[in-house]
Amino acid sequence: MQNFDYRTPTRLVFGENVIEKLPAVMAAIGKHVLLTYGGGSIKKIGLYDRVKELLKDFEITELPGIQPNPKYDPSVLDGVRLCKENDIDVILAVGGGSVLDCSKAIAAGAKYDGDPWDLITYKVKAQAALPIVDILTLAATGSEYDSGGVISRTETNDKVAYLDPLLYPVCSFLDPRYTFTVSKKQTAAGCADAMNHIMEQYFCEDATLLNDGFCEAGLKSLMANAKACLENPEDYRARAEMMFACTLGCNGIYSLGNSPSGWPCHAIEHALSAYYDITHGEGLAIITPRWMRHILSERTIDRFVKYGINVFGIDATLPKQEIAEKAIDSTYAFFESINIPMHLREVGIGEERIDEMAHHIAVNEGLENAYVPLLEQDIKEILVASL
Ligand code: NZQ
Ligand code: ZN
Repeated sequence: MQNFDYRTPTRLVFGENVIEKLPAVMAAIGKHVLLTYGGGSIKKIGLYDRVKELLKDFEITELPGIQPNPKYDPSVLDGVRLCKENDIDVILAVGGGSVLDCSKAIAAGAKYDGDPWDLITYKVKAQAALPIVDILTLAATGSEYDSGGVISRTETNDKVAYLDPLLYPVCSFLDPRYTFTVSKKQTAAGCADAMNHIMEQYFCEDATLLNDGFCEAGLKSLMANAKACLENPEDYRARAEMMFACTLGCNGIYSLGNSPSGWPCHAIEHALSAYYDITHGEGLAIITPRWMRHILSERTIDRFVKYGINVFGIDATLPKQEIAEKAIDSTYAFFESINIPMHLREVGIGEERIDEMAHHIAVNEGLENAYVPLLEQDIKEILVASL
């Protein structure tokens, strides 16, 4: 078992009507609020009005229009400028992972005099960040309980994961009812994203029995509850369990004491969404089974056998190779069963830029140190198999 040093300072407030506690939480932090949100879903579900009512005694500046795969320019830059101009004390992010991630980059940029890209690329270490409170409306990324954000820079095809303990939200409000309106496409993509977060921790060299149990339960919970949410989008119980499973997925608790994996599927997917602006969870669902097939070997087979038996209930008496292959097929079949497009061509990606993306990933993502090292040629083969 590996050493670790773990602390998550985020307060989680979970359940129906929990945002009634918002004014008390915000009052303890400050009066000048930057309210960040996306393209309008929070207005449609009445959450925007409710937040404005609850915060009527606060001074609110707004940053609307944060897009999926949030963009450095204009969103991060505009947010930083608004924080500086309006002497903002706290950011309230209301939305999905993109709104939260963008708000994290803004929080750090607001306390820095130079170009915020210096911080996002670790050229300069942030010394401080504004506090962030969030109200989550989409179960997927786990950004509400982790210290990371992923920011895209269109002109250079960069999509960069920026992590810093300063970026943990102070408090995350999780009311599953606000996820009732999440589309089937985003519900399925959110499930695939959170499942992949768990797989990125499960498939490693040295894992504990404890973590394997957490991960296997997490995967089963996500699959069962995503199906139930798709059948009945207003199934509170299913939306609630899915939301909490997603929250736990990306914060590292599932792999405390495990050896690192390098998060290879994320490294590959981030290039896909940087180059083509696709939905993150869909890109992951496409890549995952192809990556699994690529790394299946004598060295890794026992992980696949355990995964197949414990997550998909595959007959343990079958030969190992057959169990492992069935496990990969079952992974693919599950994503397909929730209507995720399972080929890159279906999300608008052809072979034209495969070489360029494989090179970009190999140079920028350090996958030569992954659980199973991936060099440029391996990455290319995975991408080609995903077409
Ligand atoms: O923009 P609005 O109008 O709000 O609509 C959004 C958006 O179009 C919509 N939506 C959100 N809540 C809704 C809703 N529609 C109806 N009802 C609601 N209640 O859903 C669309 C997608 O939203 P987005 O925030 O982009 O989705 P998600 O939460 O999946 O976030 C994806 C981003 O997070 C990054 C991804 O790379 C991607 O950029 N990730 C962040 C991570 C982290 N911070 O730890 C880890 C992940 O691995 C991931 O990389
Ligand atoms: Zn993800």
